[in-house]
Amino acid sequence: MHERLALAQAVAREAGEILRRSLSDLEVETKGATELVTRVDYASQELIFGRIHERYRDDAFLGEEGDGQAGTDAPRLWVVDPLDGTNNYVHGIPQFCVSIAYAEEGGVRAGVVYDPTRDEMFAAASGGGAFLNGRPIRVSERERLDDIIVATGFYYDRDELMERTLEAMGRLFRHNVHGIRRFGSAALDLCWLACGRFDAYFEYRLSPWDFAAASLVAREAGGRLSDRSGAPLTLASSSMLAANPLVYDAFAAVVRLQSP
Ligand code: IPD
Ligand code: CA
Ligand code: CA
Repeated sequence: MHERLALAQAVAREAGEILRRSLSDLEVETKGATELVTRVDYASQELIFGRIHERYRDDAFLGEEGDGQAGTDAPRLWVVDPLDGTNNYVHGIPQFCVSIAYAEEGGVRAGVVYDPTRDEMFAAASGGGAFLNGRPIRVSERERLDDIIVATGFYYDRDELMERTLEAMGRLFRHNVHGIRRFGSAALDLCWLACGRFDAYFEYRLSPWDFAAASLVAREAGGRLSDRSGAPLTLASSSMLAANPLVYDAFAAVVRLQSP
C-alpha cells in the first residue's frame, strides 16, 4: 500500500500544480444546466490516469470526467476527482483540490487530497492514521451542538434536496451552532473535519469521487461517517453525514434524512 500511497501523493502534487498554474487561464463549459467543467478538469484527470496506468496497468479507474468508469466494487480501483471545487475555480476562489483514492473490492485503502493553494497534502492509508503534510491529525473534541462549526454543500440541481438542506441549516441554527460554512469542495470539507477545523459536515447528494479519498482521511483521524440516513458509508453511498464521534449522535439527530 505504501507504494500506491506514495504514487498518489506525487501525482496529486503534479496535478495540483496544473490547477494552480492555469487558474487565470480558463475556458469554461457547462455539463447540463448549471454544472461547470473546465479544460483543466480534463487535463488533470488525463495526467492522473496516465501516471497511474504507467505503473499499475491492470488497475481500474473511476473518475468524474468520463473515460475510466469501473464499478465501485472493482478488485483494484482508483477513484479520482481531478478538480474538486470547480465552481470556486472558475470564479478564481482559491478553495479547490485534487482527490485520489485507491480501493480494493469497495474498501478504500489509501486516500490523498491535495490543496495546491495552501500546499496542504492530506493522506491516509487504512489502519495507518491520517496526516497533513506528514504530521498526524485528529478530529476535534467538541461535544455540544452550540459549540461546533458545521460544513455543508449544495447541488448543481436546485431540487428537493436543496430544500431539505436549507431546512436542516435552519434547525442547526436553532440549536445555536457557532456557524455553518459552504466552502465549495466536499473533499476539503471532510479533510478539514479530519484536522479539527470543522466539527461536523453533511451533504445530501455526493458522488464517490467527491468523498472516496477524504472519507478515509476523516475516518483515520477518528471521525464518524455515515450516509444521510445514518447507515454505514460505502463507496457506493451518495450522501454523507460526518462528525467527531462525541457530537455525531446529536448532529445526526438534527440533519439525518430517512431515505439512504
Ligand atoms: C462539488 C464540490 C462541492 C459539492 C458538490 C460537488 P465538483 O464537486 O465538492 O463542494 O457541494 O456536491 O459536486 O463539481 O467541484 O468536483
Ligand atoms: Ca467533486
Ligand atoms: Ca470535479
